[in-house]
Amino acid sequence: MSTLEKWHDVRLSPAERVEALLAEMTTAEMVGQLNQSANLRVDDASDTALLAAGGVGSTLLASGATAGNVRDDGVSFVRTEAIQRAASTSRLGIPLLIARDVIHGHRTVFPIPLGLAASFDVDLLRHTAEHAAAEAAADGINWTFAPMLDIVEDARWGRVAESLGESPLLTSRLGAAMVEGIQQSGKVTACAKHFVGYGLSRGGRDYASVDVGEITLRNSHLRPFRAAVDAGVGTVMAAFSDVDGIPMHSHRYLLRTVLKEEWGFDGVVVADWNGIGELVDHGVAADLRDAARLAIEAGVDVDMVSGAYAAHLESLADAGDVDRELVVDAARRVLRLKLRLGLLDGDAITAAPAPVGLDRDLARAAAEASFVTLRDDALPLTTASGRILLTGPYAHERASLMGTWVLDGDERDVATIAEALEGAVAALPGSATLEVDDGAFIDRTLRRAREADTTIALVGEHALRSGEDSATSDIGLPAGQLEQLRALRAVSGTLIVVVFAGRPLALADVLELADAVVFAWHPGTEAGPALAALLTGESTRSGRLPMLLPRSAGHLPFSHAERPSGRPMPFDGRGMGRYLDAPTAPVADFGAGRSRLRTGSLRATATVVLPDGEVIAEVEVTNPTDRSVREPALLLMRDDVADITRPWRELVDFTVIEVAAGDTVTVRFEIPVAAFGYTGRDRTQRVDTGSIHLWAAAADGSEPGEAGAVVVTVVSASS
Ligand code: BGC
Repeated sequence: MSTLEKWHDVRLSPAERVEALLAEMTTAEMVGQLNQSANLRVDDASDTALLAAGGVGSTLLASGATAGNVRDDGVSFVRTEAIQRAASTSRLGIPLLIARDVIHGHRTVFPIPLGLAASFDVDLLRHTAEHAAAEAAADGINWTFAPMLDIVEDARWGRVAESLGESPLLTSRLGAAMVEGIQQSGKVTACAKHFVGYGLSRGGRDYASVDVGEITLRNSHLRPFRAAVDAGVGTVMAAFSDVDGIPMHSHRYLLRTVLKEEWGFDGVVVADWNGIGELVDHGVAADLRDAARLAIEAGVDVDMVSGAYAAHLESLADAGDVDRELVVDAARRVLRLKLRLGLLDGDAITAAPAPVGLDRDLARAAAEASFVTLRDDALPLTTASGRILLTGPYAHERASLMGTWVLDGDERDVATIAEALEGAVAALPGSATLEVDDGAFIDRTLRRAREADTTIALVGEHALRSGEDSATSDIGLPAGQLEQLRALRAVSGTLIVVVFAGRPLALADVLELADAVVFAWHPGTEAGPALAALLTGESTRSGRLPMLLPRSAGHLPFSHAERPSGRPMPFDGRGMGRYLDAPTAPVADFGAGRSRLRTGSLRATATVVLPDGEVIAEVEVTNPTDRSVREPALLLMRDDVADITRPWRELVDFTVIEVAAGDTVTVRFEIPVAAFGYTGRDRTQRVDTGSIHLWAAAADGSEPGEAGAVVVTVVSASS
């Protein structure tokens, strides 16, 4: 189809163009737009027939149902362009949405999302998302299934690696920045997923049930999705889980009433992989036809791979079992999205875009910003570090340092820790030397550690131990590693432990035995140089924990935002309601991370404010070191008396500050009083009068503290 039609006419309004196209379409063609088929191939006769018939509106390129940990053959412009050419042979010649999970990088791999979140750096996440989308677009991808916005409280759930942590505010801001970054070029659409509550899967087991009340949904889990919608996200993906017995793929109230009607979301709701088909497995649909009816009525516009819509939607509409208008509305949403992406301009098949190169600088900056130093007694390495032994299974690793959901990153691009540290140690002044050991035989390693002055042990989880369908019942280090660290402790002078992981791990023992501990997530392409920069003190950046480190799996779920009970337990875990057999407090709190800065006490310019006013809180921060330092600054709050129980502590603002060597800066938080608001008993948003505690997370210790809190009083205009 090459002639220019009315809907190609850019002089018409977008709505007119979409309606012009819809008016041309048969019900079958509309249903085709709602059908997403995986891995369409132009050398497969049934696929080309489907494309020629207009029976498919989008394709997803992924290895299968849990593609995050199973690589496929990769993607290229040649492949996607061939698919678009085949799509152009249909009667209306509508190009496809071609989707891929570009989660934390495409060719250039950035840290896993949970690591990126540790940077607390909105601009950084905008840039990494923008770069990833540009690389993907060069391969013909126009839809990525990111960002994941599930609020997480349970480190057993493997998908915490894909999340932005436990704070609704942090996830909202970083998620919105990712949406902006991904959609910046206008050629790629983002997907806020998984709507909603999936992070509460029972027991941390993937896909399991979710029980959560509407007030908690609104005050926590829905917030980042609202922020993504406000940032203009093109698509939203339904979650696999149910909420209070209603599978999300059939949750009419949350998908249609809240997301589409209350929030005015005019984009596309896409099913998760076979999520519509799984309504049968959930036991709420008798068969695929019934599932199709439930899903379209609930507001799911696009059927990812189940085939339910393709097989049944037209006949459901013809029989009057489904209101045809629902099909029209879903197709309208898909066409509107295609129009916004420029796919209806009649020239969708373009010449191959210029390839986008690896951005090693950005990957390194992101990795450095993601590292959280939990203990720093032996850092940085100096001349006094003497003979250094680098050991552990990650010394020569590449693929596992890229993390879960890396579909297109090339492990050959990853600089290993050993390679990078060799150069960095050689560049240190003095006579420090490095020996590298792969940790394969503990006896050999112990002999070498005994001869060294400083041992750096690289431990933690392989990337395959996190991500989708990768729950663990234990959150300690993988089998054998703690024993090895204990053995190393016994013979080492100085012991530095670096932990790679896709989830918070229980590290009380490690923090006790090591002189320094760095939590390094899965850092991506620049793992080696970034870690070497941190260890040698060359890095100016550092991160803070976006999820607390609990003492054990038995402490889960747990987050900084626990609500006070009637017998409140201070967060140090010393009150009623504690565990009898272990301290309750986390090993490292949300926001923890050693800082090189000294933070003064917080002050507010006005402590009595109106509900529509603003609080300005300031704090002095000094950099006593001889290098410039870039670190997050966090502001926490508590609402003393409210309509409902409010979190014990909640992140209310944050920023990243840069302080030159020896300098002091004033960090200024400008917080609209509306930020203290929440959804109350009547399900509406409210801001209370009364007192709010505000405090800066301590930047000079491992845990944020409430000491030095400022009390702000919100008063009504009439008082
Ligand atoms: C995951 C989604 C992902 C989709 C497509 C599903 O299994 O839950 O997060 O986007 O597959 O690969």
